Formats: sequence, structure tokens, C-alpha cells
Amino acid sequence: MAEFIAQCEIDAQKDIMNLIKSKNNGENKLACVHTLGCVQNENDSERIRGMLLEMGYTMCEEEKKADVVIFNTCAVRENAELKVFGFIGALKNVKAKRPRMIIGICGCMMQQQYVVDKIKKTYKHVDMIFGTHTIHRFPKILHSAMQQKTVDVEDSEGYIAENIHHLRGSSVVASVSIMYGCNNFCTYCIVPYVRGRERSRRPADILAEVEGLALQGYKEVTLIGQNVNSYVGYDDIADFADLIESISKIEGIERIRFVSSHPKDFSDKLIDTIAGNKKICIQIHLPFQAGSNKVLKDMNRKYTKEQYLSLIERIKTKIPNVALSSDIIVGFPTETNEDFADTVDVVKKIGFDMLYTFIYSRRSGTPAAEINPVLTEDEIKHNFEELLKVQSKIVYDINAKLQGSVVSVLVEGESKTNPNLLTGRTESGKIVNFSADRATIGTIIDVKITHVATWSLTGEIYK
Ligand code: SAH
Ligand code: SF4
Ligand code: F3S
Repeated sequence: MAEFIAQCEIDAQKDIMNLIKSKNNGENKLACVHTLGCVQNENDSERIRGMLLEMGYTMCEEEKKADVVIFNTCAVRENAELKVFGFIGALKNVKAKRPRMIIGICGCMMQQQYVVDKIKKTYKHVDMIFGTHTIHRFPKILHSAMQQKTVDVEDSEGYIAENIHHLRGSSVVASVSIMYGCNNFCTYCIVPYVRGRERSRRPADILAEVEGLALQGYKEVTLIGQNVNSYVGYDDIADFADLIESISKIEGIERIRFVSSHPKDFSDKLIDTIAGNKKICIQIHLPFQAGSNKVLKDMNRKYTKEQYLSLIERIKTKIPNVALSSDIIVGFPTETNEDFADTVDVVKKIGFDMLYTFIYSRRSGTPAAEINPVLTEDEIKHNFEELLKVQSKIVYDINAKLQGSVVSVLVEGESKTNPNLLTGRTESGKIVNFSADRATIGTIIDVKITHVATWSLTGEIYK
């Protein structure tokens, strides 16, 4: 059973927020929160921004102008970590000119003691450090950092903090955390160490959050968690299939997505629920990581290549036109070229709409970090590039079939790359750019696909 942060502790933070707000009154203070990493971190950043807003800050994108700058960090691969050190280093001179500026670093990297030690030693201009288990204390941390350097990292199994408002980036689509943490301990992965044990939110709290979003006019929710399909509820909302079914009954919510799922917990009940419910989008992200049974065993993934292929077969049979995506790691230490060929075999057999491919990154403290790699860096890079080549052809072929077709798109807002175009997603999660009246934002419209590229689709309104 999950443990919850007492409401009185959340209320105490509200008092501190009011205090800071009264100090900021009329001062037009700016805050900037940068996020690295996954949707969990994005969701946490929305909560941090929500608290900053309550404290009277206005959000901005430029850290140089901000009074409070926060980097929400990711520890999953080494390059994510290196980026953060680059960002912080670049702020040293800015802070020298504006000493009252407060620089904070939070998130998954801070759950590793060696990182905290390095920041304290090398980046003395950082004012506050907090981890993934202490976000609910952010107002207290900020207030303290205004007087002295503050570190608040808890090495915890993890609690759930309810009733913290989000400042969301969209008024149409929203992410909702349904569970936190991970119990799987895949041998390469740092997440269980930095995010704590699996804990599920109460069904009533999740439903209340989604009902609130529907009242505000949101049309789509993405249910998020490290392994959403391992969700554990109670009574008549006992598992993830029950939860998603209940959420679909909320009036105003027209589309539901979810990410990430673990193959070991993807039940036939869940497949039937998705197949039988029009609001649940036909998009499933199901990481398989590697094709070789030996590597899967060494990774502690708890399924075989054959079990994964048969699961996908059941999904495809019950959910026609389903869009599948996956995560793959290339170069796990025990992976040989023959093992890698099994990965390519799975990719070719399944035909994923989207793949997130990563070169294995050694994470100290994980079991795999102790194993010497079989392949050289060059061999791994070569395999990685081969995989990208195989996949880009598959994606192009899948997308090419969409040329001239009419798809139903929930209009999310302006396109990031071209403000003259609007952007939205198909039911299967593909991004489509098109020109249309801004009044269509927040509605589902029919779009005819006029141009197909590997990573994007362009279309026009279909009347
Ligand atoms: N909980 C999710 C994914 C979390 S991390 C799941 O299991 O599906 C996102 C992805 O990062 C993983 O699926 C994996 O492909 C990748 N990843 C995790 N640790 C990694 C490492 N040490 N090196 C390279 N990629 C890694
Ligand atoms: Fe990491 Fe595995 Fe947990 Fe995903 S399931 S977060 S890859 S340990
Ligand atoms: Fe990174 Fe933390 Fe997510 S390590 S992938 S931001 S849970």
C-alpha cells in the first residue's frame, strides 16, 4: 500500500508560498524551469511551475533573465547528465553579475550522492539541490535557499504527494501520473534507484484529477508511470484495465493514451479493454529492449523473444491498425553480433510505427555496470546505425500508406516549427501539421494527408 504525504505537510507549504508571494508582490519576478528526461520529469516540472506561479512568479524561457532557474535532471544515460553540467557551468558568469538569482537543480540525478557531492564541490553558484522525493517541499527549499545554500534529498522508497497544482503547457492535452517508481530492476537501469519503489495513486484521486481537467476543457489525457500496466488499485478499480475504463466514462475527455507499459504485465483483459473502447487511442508503447533471449535474461526483463512476439500478435489481432512503438538498447555488455541480429529480426517482424533506440550507457550502481562489454564501441555504433537504417525504411513505408488518407486529428495548437501551421495528433499518435483556423484548437477534425516524410505528416482540412 502506498504511503501518502500528510495533507498538513502540503498545507504548511501553502503558508510558505503565501509568504514568498507577499514578498514578490508587485516585483514582476521571473522563473524558468528546464526539463531533461521523460514524461515523469515533465509532469514534475509542471508541479514545480504550479508552485512557482502560486508564489507570484511569471514563467519565462530565458534563464539569464530569470530570478529563479531550475534544471530538472535525468540520470538514465550519461549524455543526459553531461548536458546538465554544461548548462550549470554556463550560468556561472550570469550569477556573478546577478548574485540574487537563485539556481536550483532537482530530479533523478540528485538521487545519486556522487552527483550532489560533485555539484557542491565544483558548482558553488548552485543555491538549491533537491531530489525526486522532496518536490512537495519545494516552497520551503526555495525560501531557505534565499538565505543559504540548501540541499534536500531524501533516500526514500517514495511517498505520494496529492493536491499540488500543475501549471500545464497545453490547454488541450495533459499528462496524469497514475503510479510512481519501479520494482523491476532491469540490470542496466538507474530508474528504480532514483525514483523509488512502485506505488499507485488512489483511483479516486486520479479520477478527481481527470474530472478537473475535463471541466477545464482538456480533451485528452495521457496516463503516465514507469509501468502503467502494473497499476494496483482496489475494489472495482483493481487494475490498469479497470482504471482506464473508468476514466473513459468521464464526460469531455475524448482521448486517452498511456505510457510506458511493461510486456510482462500486458494482460488479455487490457487488450480487450483497449479494443472495445473508442476513447482509448490505438497506440501502444511497449519497450522490448533486445531480441536475444540470452540478453533479455541478462537484462532481467522477465520475458522471451517468443513471448513478446506472441503478445504483439494478440494485440494486432484484437486491435486492427494499432500503432506500436518500442524502446531498444544496442550494445548491452553481453550482447554479441548474433544477439543483435535477433533485435533486428524482431524489428522487421513487427514493423513499429516508432522506435526509441539507445546505445547502452553504463550506470554506476547497476548490476550491468560490472560486466565487461563483448563488443567494441565501433561495433556497437555500427549496429546502432544499421538499426536506424532498418527502422527508417519501415517508418517511411508505414507513413507512405497514409498519403491521401483522411485521419482524425485532435488540434493541439500552433506547430513548434512553423507558427503559421497548427499541429495535432492522429488517434495512433502521429503528429500532423496543417493550416486551419485557430478556432479548431481543442476540437477533433478530419485532415487529409498531403505530404509524408519519415518523421512528420502534413495535411489539409478535409470537408
Ligand atoms: N519504465 C520504462 C522506461 C524507462 S527509461 C520501461 O521500462 O518501459 C526509458 C528507456 O531508456 C528504457 O526503456 C531503455 O530503453 C532506456 N534505458 C534505460 N537505461 C538505459 C541505459 N543504461 N543505457 C541506455 N538506455 C537505457
Ligand atoms: Fe528501468 Fe526496467 Fe524499470 Fe523500465 S522497467 S524503469 S527499464 S528498471
Ligand atoms: Fe530520466 Fe528520471 Fe525519467 S532518470 S528517464 S527523468 S525517471
